[in-house]
Amino acid sequence: MKQLILILTFTILFFAGYGQSCEVGGSFFSTFEDIQLILDENNCGSCHANGRSEANWNYDSYTLFTRNGDCNQQVIIHGNASDSYLYDVITGSDKLCSESTSIHKLSETDLDKIETWINQGATEYCLPLYPEVTAIFDLNNCQSCHKQNSGLWAYNTYQGILGFNTDNNCEETKTVVIGNADLSLLYDKINNDGYVVCGESMNGEFSPLTDLEIAKIRDWINGGATESTSALPVVISSFESKEADMSIILTWLTEIEIGTDKFVVEHSSTGRGFEEIAEVKSTGSSGSSSSYTYMHETPSFGENYYRLKMVDLDGSFNYSNIRLTRLEVETAEMIVSPNPAMSTDRLKVRWYPRKGQEQAYLNILDPNGKNLHKKIIFEGTNYVRLPTLIEGIYYVLIEDYFGGFLLERVVIIN
Ligand code: HEC
Ligand code: HEC
Repeated sequence: MKQLILILTFTILFFAGYGQSCEVGGSFFSTFEDIQLILDENNCGSCHANGRSEANWNYDSYTLFTRNGDCNQQVIIHGNASDSYLYDVITGSDKLCSESTSIHKLSETDLDKIETWINQGATEYCLPLYPEVTAIFDLNNCQSCHKQNSGLWAYNTYQGILGFNTDNNCEETKTVVIGNADLSLLYDKINNDGYVVCGESMNGEFSPLTDLEIAKIRDWINGGATESTSALPVVISSFESKEADMSIILTWLTEIEIGTDKFVVEHSSTGRGFEEIAEVKSTGSSGSSSSYTYMHETPSFGENYYRLKMVDLDGSFNYSNIRLTRLEVETAEMIVSPNPAMSTDRLKVRWYPRKGQEQAYLNILDPNGKNLHKKIIFEGTNYVRLPTLIEGIYYVLIEDYFGGFLLERVVIIN
């Protein structure tokens, strides 16, 4: 009896931890049911489920969930959380089309789960891979016309199913647009909306697909049209950014890395238009987890958004979730390094003024207050070449245009 209770507790704990999550190639993915659970737990259902649809948006079904609501903004963009309206809503962003309300803000943990799920394609079911898709087609008679080299589209190879090297009868349309089922001819030809862009519907009398099968093909495309578990993207189990002494430290942990080449660290001060700031080589493998750190020494004043571009050896890539760290300056600050310095060193002077100030004078003073060097510096990082100095104590003085000043002692050694 005791054993049974133990087993039961274990089972309950296991399911409580992972919900309906699915595992593919050793990595956990969320399904739409997991997301519904999170929304239920946050009481979103009192306005957006069980037939209630405030703002015309409701998550009773995946179809309703992915539809655009009143605001006519794309609630979900598969593979791209930060541009999805749902993400704006649950982060309490200021980009909302109508007044945002505090009821919409989710906890970090829930946000992370939803963000990751959208970035992984926002699939309804467990992520299908190429073999599952071909099995569905085989079951539905598609092979009688699409598996031999008859000149028609053929799905017996991975390149073939993507529509490469085949005679595309609908030239205007790509057979598979990776990450976007709605733009893919393959999905257009089999879904049941009664309209096809060109040619005939393929979900006819010969080959009636079930709704579940159709949904799986859609999920396969939205989830990245992945070939096999060895082509699964690297799985990042955590990614954090935090401030330390006016620098921002990024740390991330990977669970599985298969064929990963490097991580490109990208930065933006607005959340859009990211720029590459560094590259970190992959040191991970498929069997163990690895941790990485990168220090951004010259962040901007205000908002700093980061994301990782995870590049595989074959050049394909994926983006991580986005992290935000705000650098707030209550009072102006100056950081001088190195200190002590050699007189041949270039001094790095980081100046973070209060809002509205961009320039100031930097002075190097000797212990008697005599000015040895003067130059204009700007907000952020500045480099100063020292005049020839004998060993001793000196001062760096920053005077801003409003009469404020900062003073820092620097020791010079030779
Ligand atoms: C008390 C009722 C209420 C609750 C609870 C609520 N919402 Fe809303 N929601 C609204 C209203 C009203 C709007 C439309 C106005 C707005 O955008 O602020 C809205 C808008 C939305 C939209 C935008 C739909 C569109 O028009 O495109 C989304 C997405 C959304 N809510 C998600 C959620 C989520 C997720 C939760 C749970 C964290 C939630 N809501 C909780 C009332 C609610
Ligand atoms: C009886 C033969 C036949 C069967 C069975 C059949 N197809 Fe087709 N399929 C065709 C023909 C002929 C075309 C080209 C004309 C057109 O696009 O309508 C075509 C075109 C297509 C295209 C467009 C290819 C391109 O790039 O132009 C796709 C995708 C497709 N079929 C998928 C399927 C799927 C999936 C199934 C099974 C559910 C299926 N077909 C079953 C004969 C068939």
